[in-house]
Amino acid sequence: MIKNTPPMGWNTWNTFAANIDESLVLSSADALIASGLRDAGYEYVVVDDCWALKERDRAGRLVPDPAKFPHGMKHVADELHARGFKFGMYSCCGSMTCAGYPASLGREYEDARTFAAWGVDFLKYDYCYKPASVDGKTLYRRMGLALANCGRDILFSGCSWGADNTHEWIGTTGANMWRSTPDIVDTWDSVKDLIKRQYSILPYGGVGCFNDMDMLIVGMHGKGNVGLKGCTDDEYRLHFAAWCMFASPLMIGCDVRETDETTRAILKNETLLGIAQDPRGNRPYVNLIWGCDELPVVVRALANGDIALGFFNLTDGQAHLWATAEDMGVPEFSGKTLEGEEAYTGEKTRSVNGTIAVTLPAHSCAVYRLRIVG
Ligand code: GLA
Repeated sequence: MIKNTPPMGWNTWNTFAANIDESLVLSSADALIASGLRDAGYEYVVVDDCWALKERDRAGRLVPDPAKFPHGMKHVADELHARGFKFGMYSCCGSMTCAGYPASLGREYEDARTFAAWGVDFLKYDYCYKPASVDGKTLYRRMGLALANCGRDILFSGCSWGADNTHEWIGTTGANMWRSTPDIVDTWDSVKDLIKRQYSILPYGGVGCFNDMDMLIVGMHGKGNVGLKGCTDDEYRLHFAAWCMFASPLMIGCDVRETDETTRAILKNETLLGIAQDPRGNRPYVNLIWGCDELPVVVRALANGDIALGFFNLTDGQAHLWATAEDMGVPEFSGKTLEGEEAYTGEKTRSVNGTIAVTLPAHSCAVYRLRIVG
């Protein structure tokens, strides 16, 4: 399935890991509806690792664990489709999944057909236990082609964490998104690390195969599988804004049945989602203030001529960041200026003497959608 904007949804892994079952998945889908998240665009409900029995059946097919999914996966798919969602599942290119369940090595053709028969719309495909004797790119191409020919439109979500120079070959596998980073955890250091890793690989993302910075930790507050220390709401705001500016897929990872108002407001921020889902799909570029990788200024040209401008202060102190209007296509002699509002606060800004500048506290951001006026 080709999506021309970064896929959005919810995934079981960050909070629940192996503690998943039908009722969790369907009640989470209901919560996505009740909280307005489905209507904000979060359309894929993805069951990650640990859904299967440890053994295949006699015919070699994957078997959902009946204690977790007593009515099978087709039933889950039907229930999700009836609620207006698309259904995602998980497998791996190696001999086992990362958590030790059966994976698709040598079974790509049958497994793709099994997923199709179950009504699956999205497959996250991991990279654990890959045999040294076969290239990852070969295994991913196999699955990409198996999915392309399985009789159902299934979005291929590669998850090789950027290993083996994934960016060089992922575009040849049919994947529609590719995990470019190690796994996220719910800490500030993890968010900061994943952002810094993007600068050199931004040219490899975009329409066709989005660069996946991993699932969101917004609203986890230290709870669940990757919960660890948790982040402040400002850190979650910065995290979400960066994923939107970088056009990463947006897969919620918190327990959506228990979100607070701040979490919902972050995840539903219309300005940021408008930037994230911009139909033109231009890639952003990054300028580092003073060459410092903790002071990125991110700029992205949008379909209607607006400009998304994000200032990110990843340092532990207050910082001053700026961008020149000239570099955003508006030289002073044009007599025009740039103006716009900050995505979270609505605070207005405009270029003064050809510059837009902001002073930010530690671990915070300001993102503006700018228009040319005058
Ligand atoms: C890997 C992936 C994670 C998750 C787990 C499941 O670590 O990167 O996103 O899918 O496997 O075991």
